Amino acid sequence: GRKIIIDTDPGQDDAVAILLALASAELDVLGLTIVAGNVSLHYTVEAARKVVELAERTEVPIYAGCSRPISKPLVTAEHVHGATGIDGVDFADPTVPVQSEHAVDFIIRTLRAEPAGDVTLVTLGPLTNIGLALVKAPDIAPRVREIVAIMGSLHQGGNITPLGDFNTYVDPEAADLVLQSGIPIVMVPMDITHQVLNTRERLDAWRATGTRCGAAAADLMQFSEAFDLEKYGWGAAPLHDPCAIVYLLAPELFSGRTINVRVSTDGTVSTGMTVVDWWRVSGREPNCDYLLEVDVPALYDLMTERLALLP
Ligand code: BDR
Ligand code: CA
Repeated sequence: GRKIIIDTDPGQDDAVAILLALASAELDVLGLTIVAGNVSLHYTVEAARKVVELAERTEVPIYAGCSRPISKPLVTAEHVHGATGIDGVDFADPTVPVQSEHAVDFIIRTLRAEPAGDVTLVTLGPLTNIGLALVKAPDIAPRVREIVAIMGSLHQGGNITPLGDFNTYVDPEAADLVLQSGIPIVMVPMDITHQVLNTRERLDAWRATGTRCGAAAADLMQFSEAFDLEKYGWGAAPLHDPCAIVYLLAPELFSGRTINVRVSTDGTVSTGMTVVDWWRVSGREPNCDYLLEVDVPALYDLMTERLALLP
């Protein structure tokens, strides 16, 4: 399968994304690298352990990474995700070990060891681990096949500040550094994820798979939806991180434009905003494929089919 490292800050939607990846034979998950974000590093690491145990895939190694962004204090979102990041399901206390190597060092070691152009990085949280890996080992940049990143917003504003989506806002310096690395990037922004709405019928279809993981995925999303239901008033909450995995499985479901994106790091009220050059007016070279449209029914069909394959 396609070799991927999932860099993540679980988070209910991160947890569902991990389940989806583990259910998919096309993907070879080399490791989970964990970052602080939705909740503190202690809880994001614990959440990742619980998720691999739920999926009975404890051979997938877990590496703890950075406990805070590069140059500002950590902002978390317990008001959305609960104290553990994955409130909503009663998980057993995890026993699977955490690797002793730091996530940043695992990323560097793996990119140097695998053939150049083989490894894809999937980022579901703030970009701190990837940014620091690029600072520590700039030689890895040309070896990355692609980064598929849940971040950014053009037409949807922000979800943590008026202009900042959570992953970009929490570590804007890391996000901008990654965008300027020369690595091919596919950006899966809020413009996509705000079209992907967890209606009750869609969550019930996951439950109807009859699998423990399908039910857990639905229960997780139902826990974290309360805040979004009130915030947006759409009658259903958006689904973020699994969209990156669906993109890897079925890129033909998405369309967008190859353009330049930078991140505002020096703003006051705009810090963490993605500056998306949709009309190519900046003169800056394109640095990412910015996705804007998605086939939503097909996305849910694929997710349901895959969740059915798990325990
Ligand atoms: C992102 O923020 C987090 O809360 C979610 O897990 C997702 O990665 C959406 O902006
Ligand atoms: Ca996330």
